[in-house]
Amino acid sequence: MVGGGEHSVTLDAGTGSSRQPGRLPTLARMPRGGTLDVLLVATRRFEFHAFLARSLAAVGASVGAVAPPGSPLFRTGAVTTRFAVRGGRRVGGMERALADTHPTVVVPCDDGATAALHALDERSDDWRELLRRSIGARQYFPVARSRNSMVALARAEGIAVPATVTADTAAGALEAAGSVGWPAVLKCDGGWGGSGVRVVEDASDIQQVWPRLAGRPSLPVALRRSLRSGDLDALRERAAFHPAPLGVQAFVAGPLLTHAVCCQEGEVRAGASVEVLARLYPTGPATLVRPVARPDVQEAVSKLVRILEISGVVGFDFIVDPASDRALLLEMNPRATPISALSLPGGDVAAALASMCGVATAPRPALEGTIALFPGEVMRPGGDPGAADHHLVPWDEPDLVEAGLRMHVGRRGAGRIGSALRRSSGVTGR
Ligand SMILES: Nc1ncnc2c1ncn2[C@@H]1O[C@H](COP(=O)(O)OP(=O)(O)O)[C@@H](O)[C@H]1O
Ligand SMILES: [Mg+2]
Repeated sequence: MVGGGEHSVTLDAGTGSSRQPGRLPTLARMPRGGTLDVLLVATRRFEFHAFLARSLAAVGASVGAVAPPGSPLFRTGAVTTRFAVRGGRRVGGMERALADTHPTVVVPCDDGATAALHALDERSDDWRELLRRSIGARQYFPVARSRNSMVALARAEGIAVPATVTADTAAGALEAAGSVGWPAVLKCDGGWGGSGVRVVEDASDIQQVWPRLAGRPSLPVALRRSLRSGDLDALRERAAFHPAPLGVQAFVAGPLLTHAVCCQEGEVRAGASVEVLARLYPTGPATLVRPVARPDVQEAVSKLVRILEISGVVGFDFIVDPASDRALLLEMNPRATPISALSLPGGDVAAALASMCGVATAPRPALEGTIALFPGEVMRPGGDPGAADHHLVPWDEPDLVEAGLRMHVGRRGAGRIGSALRRSSGVTGR
């Protein structure tokens, strides 16, 4: 599982910098905040959150975090101001963090964080300016949160998407699958890592999948999810459930591309694409990627960012139609994604965000070739991170390394795999 290799590097490939507010012309409309440049908001414990914090710190930004206890964000020295907040008090906790730190921008790092920022915007006018420059124009928040609305809007704007029809019932989905072609992909609005998406091969698949995607989650399922995440989010979502149509989409057999951007009020400041070479499970998070330059992706993203007046850090997923080699938009993730932590030949999203905040950043070297993401590629059955040109292990923060492994294999497994990984990478010390 853990391959040997001489290619390992640490994630911290950045160079230091000093703050020189107001030096860059693009900063003219970006009011400086108080004590923090960037406040990261998380409701889940994803490793990449810490990597984004490290990248921001590496380019000179001061970084704070609002996250659940045990978050990887609290295991990196890159985060200097920390607010541990459990689900139920998230919006209140966020308000306190914002009032204490007055960040220049706030960045949601998962879908729950985006929803919490949208809720904050609805609850109070106090943060409107901050939220506008951090995530964009509020009239588009509902579109940003709905995969199916986003695809419909993109199509209306002439952006290439897979053939998609919406359906209110299983019978409607069957008819829709007939029109887009089999196999089809059924999609609800929520979910991530493939949880709201199912490939269906025939009518009986649709009968089976429909209640799971279109229905109210059962109480035992919601309870189990809440127990696992340590908050009441899944139970709350169940209580607030209202039926919505599903998208029925043509299945596209080509490779997945993901694109991360940093934008400012509808304008892309930096963005880069990667092709996904391997994933933790078939529809799950990418574990091995390679930078690619795709003008069609850049054009589609710039158009959507402009139309939706997006600000801040967001990600887009595309799939390549093998027949035409065209990139088709699958979804927008209105939040930071793992790729946003990387400095790539196409651009450096973290550096662009820091620069938007008035930090005078020095350029970081771009990662070229294949990139194994940590800890995903270590954990992928058959994964071989040592074979990649880069394996992004944060060796200078051993707690972060161990916590990343422990999330997958428990304490003892983490120790064992961590030692093997260190040996194979030639890393000495703890
Ligand atoms: N039309 C499609 N054709 C083939 N695979 C798809 C299609 N739509 C989604 N998928 C697969 O499902 C995964 C998850 O879909 P996506 O819309 O990105 O939702 P999420 O990442 O939020 O779960 C994609 O990465 C892709 O592998
Ligand atoms: Mg996706």
